[in-house]
Amino acid sequence: MERSQWGTRAGFVMAAIGSAVGLGNIWRFPYVAYENGGGAFFIPYLFALLTAGIPILIMEFTIGQKFRGSAPLSFFRMSGKKLEWLGWWAVFVSFIISCYYAVIIAWAIRYTIFSFNLAWGSDTEGFLFNEFLHLTVQPGQTGGIVWGVFIPLAFVWIITLGILFAGVKKGIELANRIFIPTLVVIFLIVVLRAVTLDGALMGLDAFFKPNIEELMNPAVWVAAYGHIFFSLSVAFAIMITYASYLPKKSDLTNNAFITGFANSAFELLAGIGIFAALGFMANQQGVAVADVAAAGVGLAFVVFPQIINEFPGFNGLFGALFFLSLTLAGLTSLISITETYVAGVSEKFGISRNKSLAFGGGLAALISILFATQGGLYFLDVVDYFINQFGVAFIGLVEVILVVWVFRKADMLKGHADAISDIRLGGWWKICLGIVTPIVLGYMMFGLFKVNLLKQFDTENGNYEGYSDMFIMSAGVTVAAAAIILGVLASFGKWHKDHA
Ligand code: PHE
Ligand code: NA
Repeated sequence: MERSQWGTRAGFVMAAIGSAVGLGNIWRFPYVAYENGGGAFFIPYLFALLTAGIPILIMEFTIGQKFRGSAPLSFFRMSGKKLEWLGWWAVFVSFIISCYYAVIIAWAIRYTIFSFNLAWGSDTEGFLFNEFLHLTVQPGQTGGIVWGVFIPLAFVWIITLGILFAGVKKGIELANRIFIPTLVVIFLIVVLRAVTLDGALMGLDAFFKPNIEELMNPAVWVAAYGHIFFSLSVAFAIMITYASYLPKKSDLTNNAFITGFANSAFELLAGIGIFAALGFMANQQGVAVADVAAAGVGLAFVVFPQIINEFPGFNGLFGALFFLSLTLAGLTSLISITETYVAGVSEKFGISRNKSLAFGGGLAALISILFATQGGLYFLDVVDYFINQFGVAFIGLVEVILVVWVFRKADMLKGHADAISDIRLGGWWKICLGIVTPIVLGYMMFGLFKVNLLKQFDTENGNYEGYSDMFIMSAGVTVAAAAIILGVLASFGKWHKDHA
């Protein structure tokens, strides 16, 4: 069977940007920057981008392109079974994330429609939790299916699996070539409208005001690293898989820089748009920007609807464009994350792409229904927190240590990237991967383990969100641990003869 390939270089870059630009750019970055030094955050942010984000992206592009396989197969071909499990670990983390990421996209689709008649009314918080999500059970309970979420969720999976079904070039590449330019245009309209509102400057002032003293705070640097990993989709198995569809002679290094900078440009744009809109609302209500600033679900589905309510005209249209931006940004990321297990399963068992898609995608779609139940939001919250902390950043740390120090592949990879890329890598690349990133991530993981798992040593911080030990253990810790255990188990079996 011949391996699928991207049609053009631009198609690959667009797909990589499509994966990177996601909900995180719109609802996560603005608040992370604001909370961690405002204008001063750009220093740790750029540092993390240049010392960890882009170097790891170059590494993953190179591994995928050279070994021409999904993450587990590429790692297997590079260093055998001793590294294959790492690929599966990332694949299982991706699988779990895809199950709830799809649900948030479903909300965004529903809110796009709600926008037209401002269906959320004046109590946007009550609307979200009671009328829309029917969050009437205790954390840890599921309750019945919420049809208002289930129906758009079915739609999300039909689109995503349909695009993947059409293949790499005719599906993923084509979808990104349409969705990403559309997203940029729509989002630019949203941002331009936001910055011309009354009070916008007040918001921008709050966003950009540099708190220089924050630069001395290690937590700010940790936040920058954590965000960059998530935002660039590195250590998710995604970029290895996407790069495996590149032709034999393809630029790697320059493409990684383009992807990294495009993602950051989009985040900066989002920061400007979101804070301009927050400034408008603060001005409208006569409060400080700090009183309305928020992130995540609260920003997108509670605060933003309030902003839309107060809009001086074309409220519905502005709202619909905002939620459509979230939908498009989310879909292109969901496509990329789903492709990791479609590719991995198909190669391991030698089954066709479409069989693997039906099995893996079908299972993810089925599991995602859990997050569309009355208690779904609690599960989503806990699983997201643990899988991100102990999935992505942790995988990134293990990945750089194994590739650079244990299996000593950095020079080989550099040689390969240099031989085919537009630009050559300097010595900085190996230093960033082998020294700077492990130190910062190691420090970060140590802190996380201390806070979450060794609570007895840390009496100041209770459980995440005050959830019960039982719920944290079952939904958070077990799911995060399952990804690594399943990863190791999956690496035991033999590769199908076509890929051995
Ligand atoms: N890079 C995405 C973002 O910024 C995060 C993500 C990665 C989501 C991979 C899904 C899959 O939102
Ligand atoms: Na991103």
